[in-house]
Amino acid sequence: MPPLFFAETRKITIFGRFCFLTNESMAGIKCIGVLTSGGDAPGMNAAIRAVTRSAIYNGFAVKGIMRGYKGLVFNEIVEFKSQSVSNIIQLGGTILKTARCKEFTTPEGRKAAYDNMTAAGIDALVVIGGDGSLTGARLFAQEYNVPIVGLPGTIDNDLGGTDSTIGYDTALNTIMEAVDKLRDTASSHERLFFVEVMGHTAGYLALNSAIATGSEAAIIPEMETEVDQLAELINHGFRKSKNSAIVIVAENPKTGGATALAERVKKEFPQYDARVTILGHIQRGGSPTAVDRILASRMGEAAIEAILDGQRNVMIGIENGKIVYVPFVKAIQHNKGIDRNALELVKILSI
Ligand code: F6P
Repeated sequence: MPPLFFAETRKITIFGRFCFLTNESMAGIKCIGVLTSGGDAPGMNAAIRAVTRSAIYNGFAVKGIMRGYKGLVFNEIVEFKSQSVSNIIQLGGTILKTARCKEFTTPEGRKAAYDNMTAAGIDALVVIGGDGSLTGARLFAQEYNVPIVGLPGTIDNDLGGTDSTIGYDTALNTIMEAVDKLRDTASSHERLFFVEVMGHTAGYLALNSAIATGSEAAIIPEMETEVDQLAELINHGFRKSKNSAIVIVAENPKTGGATALAERVKKEFPQYDARVTILGHIQRGGSPTAVDRILASRMGEAAIEAILDGQRNVMIGIENGKIVYVPFVKAIQHNKGIDRNALELVKILSI
C-alpha cells in the first residue's frame, strides 16, 4: 500500500537522513515525466525502472517521454505503468530511446516542449543524461519554472559533484575486456598498440582503464603529451624485457586522438611496430554491471525522494557512497579534476 500522498506532514529517510515533508513541498505535483537524453549509457534502463516504480509507490502518475527532449518538442509522450518497466534492468541502451535535440536549444522549441508537457499533465521532470542534457534542463527549469531533477547518465563520468555516473563502470569493464584481448596479440607480435577510448573532453575512462589493464601509459586531455616523453616511457618498458606496450589514448578532436599520436610516434621512432585500435561506440553498449544497476536504482529512487523533498534544479550524485543533491550549475562545470596520483600509478606500475 503506497504511503498517503496528501498527509499533512511526512517523515522520510533519505539514506540515513530524516526529512519532514509538508504538503507545501509536494504541492501540485501529481505526474512525473521521465526522459533519457544525449548519448545512451548502460544502466539508463535501470534508472528509468527505479524512477517509475518509486514514483508509483509514492502515489505519482508517470509518463515516459520518447527520444529525450525531442519527445517533449514533438509530443511523443506515453503513459507508464509499473509493468512498462518490467524486465529492463539488465538491458543496455534505453527503452525510451534518446537523441540530441537541436530544436530544444531554441526558445520556440522549449515553448513547444512546455506546452506539450503541460497538456500531458506532467508537473515535474526527471532527466537522465550527461552535461548537455542537464544544461538543457537547467535552462528549461529557469525559463518555465518547471521542477526538474537530473540523473547523471553518461559513460564519460565528467559531471561535477558525483564520484561516478550511470554507465561509467560498464564502459570501463567493456574497455578492460577489449584491451585484455589486444594484449594477447600485442604480446604475441611484440607490438605497440594505441587504443583510443571515449570520454568526450575528459580522461576518466582512459586513465582508469589504463590502470585496470596494466597499460604502459594513459594519454588524457587534462595533460600535455610530449611524444619524446611517451617514447621514453615505452622504450624504458621494452628495455626492461617487456615485449609489448599498450597506450590508452582518450579521444581528442583537437589533437587527433590515437591516430595522430601513433603517426607522430611512428615517424620519430620507426623501430616500433605500432597499431591503432579505436574502440568507438561499442563502449556505450552491453548489459550494465551490478555496480551500474545498483547505482541507477539508488539514484532513480533518490530522484523521487528529491521531488518529494521539494528539491528542483538538482542532479542526484553519489559521494563516498552517499546520495547527494548537486545543483545543476555545479554538475555541468567541468572541474571535477583528474587524480594526479592515478596518473602516477600508471607510470609506477608499468616499469
Ligand atoms: O557522451 C558520451 C559519448 O559517447 C562521448 O564519450 C563521445 O564523445 C560522444 O558521446 C559520441 O557521441 P555520438 O554518439 O553522437 O557520436
